[in-house]
Amino acid sequence: MNELDIVQRVIADRRSVFPKAFSSDLVTDENIEQMLESANWAPSHKLTEPWRFHVVRDEALARLAHFMAEKYREDPKGGHFLQKKYDSIKAKVTRSSAVIIICMQRDPEERVPEWEEQAAVAMAVQNMSLRGWSLGVGGYWSTPPFRKAIHEFIDLSAGESCLGFFYLGHFAQAGQPPVRSPWQEKVQWIRE
Ligand SMILES: Cc1cc2nc3c(=O)[nH]c(=O)nc-3n(C[C@H](O)[C@H](O)[C@H](O)COP(=O)(O)O)c2cc1C
Repeated sequence: MNELDIVQRVIADRRSVFPKAFSSDLVTDENIEQMLESANWAPSHKLTEPWRFHVVRDEALARLAHFMAEKYREDPKGGHFLQKKYDSIKAKVTRSSAVIIICMQRDPEERVPEWEEQAAVAMAVQNMSLRGWSLGVGGYWSTPPFRKAIHEFIDLSAGESCLGFFYLGHFAQAGQPPVRSPWQEKVQWIRE
């Protein structure tokens, strides 16, 4: 297999791994740094490099778990408070080796449309998850409503907003089978 085939294999093999599948084996700081280094190679229009990451680790995980669960208690979207849901929000964080808060720094001069900056952040997250996969680190991008309150937990710069959370950990089995409809159904070739 040549190097480019390996890229395709990592792309196609990567699956979202959810915290209930995480093992107790802790992901090292070094692995997390490697993932963030790959994230930083994402493209961006005018090289605004809008991705920002806040790595929640060690003791701070318990604080984040409590913060998120309390946000759910304050505003249980779609109905009444459920203790089971409260506990599961906490457990997702505490089962993770780290939670990376995914943020976007809006270009101060707004030289490019906001969607391009969101797209660039998404590309950075994909780089991060592919590198993680190649290192045996699983994870997934979660976008709960309480991400909008994250400025109560971390300091955000002016123009910085939260696009979600990347929960990560080692895992024994990814669980989900890959599901994609054929790429050919989403592609039109225009030749003339
Ligand atoms: C921008 C974005 C937001 C996502 N938000 C959530 C989420 O809030 N909850 C969730 O369970 N999965 C979320 N996911 C993960 C998807 O569920 C997952 O990628 C999808 O099921 C396909 O599985 P795969 O990643 O294993 O291919 C999100 C993925 C992306 C790219």
